[in-house]
Order: sequence, then C-alpha cells, then structure tokens
Amino acid sequence: KVNGLEFAVKDLGLAESGRHQIRLAEHEMPGLMATRKEFAASQPLKGARIAGSLHMTVQTAVLIETLVALGADVRWVSCNIFSTQDEAAAAVAVGQGTPEAPAGVPVFAWKGETLEDYWWCTDQLWDFGDGKVANMILDDGGDATLLVHKGVEFEAAGAVPQPAADDPDEFKVVLETLRKSVAADGKRFTKLAGEIKGVTEETTTGVHKLVELVKSGELLFPAINVNDSVTKSKFDNKYGCRHSLVDGINRATDVLIGGKVAVVAGFGDVGKGSAESLRGQGARVIVTEIDPICALQAAMEGYEVKTLDEVVEYADIFITTTGNYDIITADHMAKMKHQAIVGNIGHFDNEIDMAGLEKTPGVQKLEIKPQVHEYTFTDGHSIIVLSEGRLLNLGNATGHPSFVMSNSFTNQTIAQIELFTKPGEYAKDVYVLPKHLDEKVARLHLDALGVKLTKLTKAQAEYIGVDVNGPYKPEHYRY
Ligand code: NAI
Repeated sequence: KVNGLEFAVKDLGLAESGRHQIRLAEHEMPGLMATRKEFAASQPLKGARIAGSLHMTVQTAVLIETLVALGADVRWVSCNIFSTQDEAAAAVAVGQGTPEAPAGVPVFAWKGETLEDYWWCTDQLWDFGDGKVANMILDDGGDATLLVHKGVEFEAAGAVPQPAADDPDEFKVVLETLRKSVAADGKRFTKLAGEIKGVTEETTTGVHKLVELVKSGELLFPAINVNDSVTKSKFDNKYGCRHSLVDGINRATDVLIGGKVAVVAGFGDVGKGSAESLRGQGARVIVTEIDPICALQAAMEGYEVKTLDEVVEYADIFITTTGNYDIITADHMAKMKHQAIVGNIGHFDNEIDMAGLEKTPGVQKLEIKPQVHEYTFTDGHSIIVLSEGRLLNLGNATGHPSFVMSNSFTNQTIAQIELFTKPGEYAKDVYVLPKHLDEKVARLHLDALGVKLTKLTKAQAEYIGVDVNGPYKPEHYRY
C-alpha cells in the first residue's frame, strides 16, 4: 500500500502514458462508453465487489473503469504471466488523478510474472478490506474460478494435498498458494464462495471448464458464458486474432510472412481469424483439423487441409489455435526446418509441448529478447518459439484492438449486471445472454463505422415471423 493505493505493478511512473492510451481507447470503445452513460444514474453495480482476472491491457482498463463507473468496487489481476501492459496497469492503479491524489483500483499485474507471482496475484483478488470479500468474479480462462473451487474442495477435505509427481508444474504452484492461504484461515474460500453471486467467463477454454464443473455437480455459483455471445466469439476470437496474430509475429520476429508456408492448427473461431491474418500477408496457409465440418469450411475457404505430420518438415510458421493440448510435440519441433517460427494463440501453453522441448537431449535455449527464444538442436538447426508457448498475440504484441474488445467487454458488463442484480433468476449452471442483448451490443457499434441499418416494415417482420425490433434470428441460427 502506498498513499492509500494498493497495487503490485511494474512502475507507477508509467501511469501517464497509460492514461493517454486509455483515453484514445475510450473513443474506440463505443459500447462500453454508451453503457457508462446508460447506467450512470441507476448504478446497477453498487455493492458489487468484482474480482477480475483478465489480461491487464489498455482495453481492460476501459472495462475496469466502466465497472467502477457503474458503482462496483474492483480488484484486478492478469490471466496470463506475459499479457499485462505495464502502463495500463499503472494507470488503473493510480486512477484518474495523479499519484498524489489517488483514486485507483487495486491491480496486481506486470508483464513477465513467474508462476509463483501469478498465483500470488490471483490470491490478492478476494479481500476487499473491512472484512468484506468479493461477491462477483469476472474471469478469462477460469483461473480465478479454479482457485476458489480448489480452495473450497481442500478446506472441506481439511488439508491441501501434496502434489503428485506427474502434476503439471503450474498445478504444484496452485497447491502451494492454497496451502499458505488455508493455513492462515481454514474457511477462507468456503466463506468466499458463499458470498459469490456468480462468474462471467470470457473465453472458450474457461467455458469448457465451467461446463465440466456443471457436469460433475461441482459448480459453486451461477455462470454466464460471455464467449458465446455472437458479438464476442464471432468477433473477438475471429477478427481480433485476424489483427493481433500477425502483430505478434511481426513484433517478435519481423520475418516477412508473404510467400511463407504457415500452418494453423484448428479452424474454429480463432483459427479462422488466424488463417485469414496470415493469408492477408500473403502466406500460403495450411490448416489442420479434427472436426470434418471445420475441415470442410477451411477447404471451402481455399486452404489446404493436411495433418501436421505431413507438413512439419517444410512449413515456416506454426500457430496453434485449438484450446486442446499436445498439438505440437517435441518430436514435431525437432523435425522442423531451420528457424521455423512456433507460436500459440490458444489460451494455455500446453498446446505446444514446451516441457518436452526443454527436456530434448542437447537442446540449447537462447533468449533473443523477452518472449522470443531460439532452441537449437544437436544437429545445429534451430526453431524460434514465441512467448514460451503462451498466447503470442498478448505476449509478443498488445492483444486485440479496442473496437473489437468493446464488443466483448460490453457483453461482460451486461453479464455482470445480470448476475449481480438478478441472483434469483440463475441456478448453478452456465448461461448465455439473451439474443436481444447480443443484438444490442452490435447495435452500439454501428454508428462508429457509419453502418446504416435497414428497418423492417411491420408487414416484412410478420412475413418472416420476427418482431420489428428483434430478435431477428432464432436461437439455433449460427451466423
Ligand atoms: P473453437 O472450439 O471454436 O476452435 C477450436 C478448434 O480446434 C475446433 O474447431 C476443434 O475441432 C479444433 N481442434 C481441436 N483439437 C484439435 C487437434 N488436435 N488438431 C487440430 N484441430 C483441433 O475455439 P476458439 O473459440 O477458436 O478458441 C480456441 C482457443 O483460443 C481457446 O483456448 C480460447 O480460449 C482461445 N482464445 C484466445 C484468444 C486470444 O486472443 N489469444 C481469443 C479468443 C479465444
């Protein structure tokens, strides 16, 4: 705590630069700014204490300050060790004023955390002072939600288990973090979970985890799946990655992408945006897929669809977008050509077998610059790995641009209002926002692009069986 501010950021001196960037971003985030205006008087989040775990970027700063503008108390961490923009974190920690006149939000995030730092930060989310704890979670990838669920599980068992030898390193850190916390207060997470009205989850991978918790009957509070708002996954995952994938590759390597052979593993929403991103630079893009529908879509878009084994020896750039694990193995990497670029844009780093690569006999790791490493094999050839296998668009660049994030974060804000103000309407299950709200989010972004929407006549609306004011599509429509 300094001058009444609570934070762990790289350098508060970056706050002014961060504030300028936030101001420019606000102009590009019309959905969030309209939401601030709409709810300024009613303050629907008054009394909400939101624990937020989502990449601490400039765009996220605009989200945080929107939640605060709607009445919420907020504490924030990043959901990835490399994704924080230190100037955004500083600006949020300081608030609108100067360091001498603070009104900041507690932020615990910096670019280049260790795993121990990361989980320590995540554990700073819960206590709001004066005996008050968080009553809402805003999550991206499910780590904050995981910590609460594991905490409750171990408190009920009366002890935090010793890690098993084959537990991933990161899980060992989670166990250590919980051991300290539970030793201090053996009911901390149980009390916390009792207060939490719900979680709003940003991304595909986090939603998968929530669905698993519902299936096993373990979900402790209601959840809104923000990812599957159409105005989130069909925009952020696709057009966001179309922008930020090549941004990350360029900032990391500055290798000419045109003419190169690029492999995109997975052709879901992120894969579609990523393939287009590379093709836009003139790369010859090859897609790998396990799902025949997505494989056929890729073929129809004009991409070759192959298996990784077929192309591993001649492609120049490899990008994983699957949300699955072990997509690129150490064996694959050993077979790649000299200075092939390997990166992941899916949520977790286990899409690329980094542990296996590190253990490859004789392999040498050299840091070219932060988040860019060259691994040289014993035969002398090397590959370039971006962001140590973590999502490279946020590790090597600054993630998605403001306009697309305004769509995602307007959904987040609406979802927080839903769960906080209507707790009785949601059970311990995973919900998506109703379509009329999805359409509202899109509508808020039309003017800025000069879009002129055609208005249905009453007769036309009756003819196709919808209301003049929407929703315009049935639930099963896929866009
Ligand atoms: P999705 O489910 O739409 O797409 C994933 C695709 O990968 C599916 O089509 C699936 O069939 C395919 N796939 C699964 N296993 C495969 C394998 N072994 N080989 C080839 N293809 C395989 O999911 P979405 O929305 O595209 O998200 C993907 C990942 O990206 C998730 O982890 C998500 O959380 C993350 N994400 C990252 C963002 C970023 O800014 N870096 C933004 C949005 C999502």
